[in-house]
Amino acid sequence: MRLEGATCILTGAAGGIGSALAKNLAAAGVRLILAGRHSETLEGLSADLSPGSILESCAGDLTDGLVQESLCHAARRGGATILINLCGCNAFGLLQEQDPEDVQRLITTNLTAPIQLTQKLLPHLLEQPVAMIVNVGSTFGALGYPGYAVYSASKFGLRGFSEALARELADGPVNVVYVSPRATRTSMNPAAVSALNAELGNAEDEPEIVAAAIVSAMRRRARRTGIGWPEKFFSGLNQLVPAVVDRALSRQLPTIKRFAVKQSQ
Ligand SMILES: NC(=O)c1ccc[n+]([C@@H]2O[C@H](COP(=O)([O-])OP(=O)(O)OC[C@H]3O[C@@H](n4cnc5c(N)ncnc54)[C@H](OP(=O)(O)O)[C@@H]3O)[C@@H](O)[C@H]2O)c1
Repeated sequence: MRLEGATCILTGAAGGIGSALAKNLAAAGVRLILAGRHSETLEGLSADLSPGSILESCAGDLTDGLVQESLCHAARRGGATILINLCGCNAFGLLQEQDPEDVQRLITTNLTAPIQLTQKLLPHLLEQPVAMIVNVGSTFGALGYPGYAVYSASKFGLRGFSEALARELADGPVNVVYVSPRATRTSMNPAAVSALNAELGNAEDEPEIVAAAIVSAMRRRARRTGIGWPEKFFSGLNQLVPAVVDRALSRQLPTIKRFAVKQSQ
């Protein structure tokens, strides 16, 4: 899809991947409607971007239907043709130790809110000659990983939503693009996650690498894009022979549990 001159809503804009993506898109000539929870961080990001690339900043919690509505109003005002559902949160830890409210918040933020925002904006996108919805998932949306049961559930859901919606919209102007990064060096990952990744030899990408991969997927209108080897291989293997991945992960389990268990216990 041609990005130059397009208007794009970017949720999670002030986060690690979001700010790198905003810079990449602004440099490509995209006009941005930035969404995040805090107006100060959105203003800070806007100050770093080329003048004229920011149409609006919308601050608010995207799990709130009214915030979703006001973002859709901004999208219609600005003639947006691209929605990037990037906003998300994570909670690394064992399920039995997690607060039920955190479980609910994670599912609402990572899965329900992107679906609701997409549904609200879809009538507007369907009126455009060409439009795009980009959903940012995770490697753990194709490979359930210990310590990430709820996060994996949310990203499996987002992947299923993206695939079904892409097929549902295949005869119209709206392209659906799903991108699944592997571990990325942002504040989403607490020190325990980075230490676990280091011990297991799991790579962590810089957010700029992920941003470039998302922009490339958008230009190619790629329905599915995974980022990084061997994560792409293991995601595919998990679809074909999950028992092999079960065995590999059971060998890692004592290490994962050492980092995932609550430190106070
Ligand atoms: N980092 C990784 O290892 C990794 C790997 C694979 C996939 N991903 C995915 O990539 C996306 C971006 O992650 P990131 O690493 O850039 O994380 P991040 O730095 O923590 O950024 C997350 C962004 O989401 C926003 N957000 C969270 N809850 C929200 C809510 N209820 N309403 C509105 N905005 C909300 C945050 O807003 P505030 O600025 O207001 O806090 C923040 O800007 C997420 O979907 C994540 O699941 C990340």
